[in-house]
Amino acid sequence: MAQSQEAAAGGTAPAAIHTELLERRYGRHVALHGLSLVVPRGSVFGFLGPNGAGKTTAVKLLLGLVRPTGGEGMVLGLPLGEPAARRRIGYLPELFRYQEWLSGREVLEAHAALAGMERGRRRAAAEEALATVGLSGEGLRRVGAYSKGMQQRLGLAVALLGDPELVVLDEPTSALDPVGRHDVRTIIQNLRAKGTTVFLNSHLLTEIEAVCDEVAVLDHGRVIAQGGLGSLLQAKGVDVEVEGVSQEEIGRLGGTWSAPRNASFPELAEGDVPELVARLVALGGRIHGVTRRRASLEQRFLDWLEVR
Ligand SMILES: Nc1ncnc2c1ncn2[C@@H]1O[C@H](COP(=O)(O)OP(=O)(O)OP(=O)(O)O)[C@@H](O)[C@H]1O
Ligand SMILES: [Mg+2]
Repeated sequence: MAQSQEAAAGGTAPAAIHTELLERRYGRHVALHGLSLVVPRGSVFGFLGPNGAGKTTAVKLLLGLVRPTGGEGMVLGLPLGEPAARRRIGYLPELFRYQEWLSGREVLEAHAALAGMERGRRRAAAEEALATVGLSGEGLRRVGAYSKGMQQRLGLAVALLGDPELVVLDEPTSALDPVGRHDVRTIIQNLRAKGTTVFLNSHLLTEIEAVCDEVAVLDHGRVIAQGGLGSLLQAKGVDVEVEGVSQEEIGRLGGTWSAPRNASFPELAEGDVPELVARLVALGGRIHGVTRRRASLEQRFLDWLEVR
């Protein structure tokens, strides 16, 4: 992939992630078909899909843990699997297990050492990461005594250690209670605020909807929808709370009437809303509210999987 193409995809700096037709086969089974993706720096990118869709396979390819059987990609401006890029990426694997006999702080210090952090900075970095994930005060306990949710928080702390430029999280909240999920959302929002790129694998749609700028939806190894959340969730149709306009007039404008004063225009495109409002007002209508319909990500997701 040419460097200039890279730069074009992400503005002046290369995109955080850029893949072209990335593919992984296991024997005859294709886990990931030609994945082409651009994740701009500083964005929060959601990678969605049902079980077995290929999300973890894609993440492992991005990190160089699995080799592609086709296609190519760059991460932080370097080819996939390049150790220099890997050092700038924080990663929470889907299946995490840390040394049970070590304390949480020791696990973090060991990872800091592996990442090449100077000895003098490790303790403070470990404490900071523990605090970020809500484990302050638990750092000296043995990991074997941590609950599953605490272990996942520790995994997240490992991913955040040393302020990486790109954070890759594979199902970061699978073991967490609602408070833990909320905490992760806040952590991701804070990462975005300081310009860190986040690549988030999940099948928890409400979570993706709450934090992601852009998503790709994967099914059976293929991307079936991709784009900004705003445009993916855009739906036709508007509901207007109006009085002073007859049912017949509403019908002539393409709407249906329901008591006491609600008119629905299910086929109206977003751009036609001002014109509709102007016409209703010209007919003597008094408008109390206009609501554009927006599909939930969950509904969209089910629609996409159905039409596949
Ligand atoms: N090492 C492997 N050997 C053989 N097949 C594999 C291997 N790893 C993954 N696969 C297959 O690739 C497909 C995608 O798996 P992957 O783990 O990427 O899915 P996923 O989207 O992460 O699913 P989940 O939501 O369950 O984590 C599956 O059909 C899986 O069986
Ligand atoms: Mg997975």
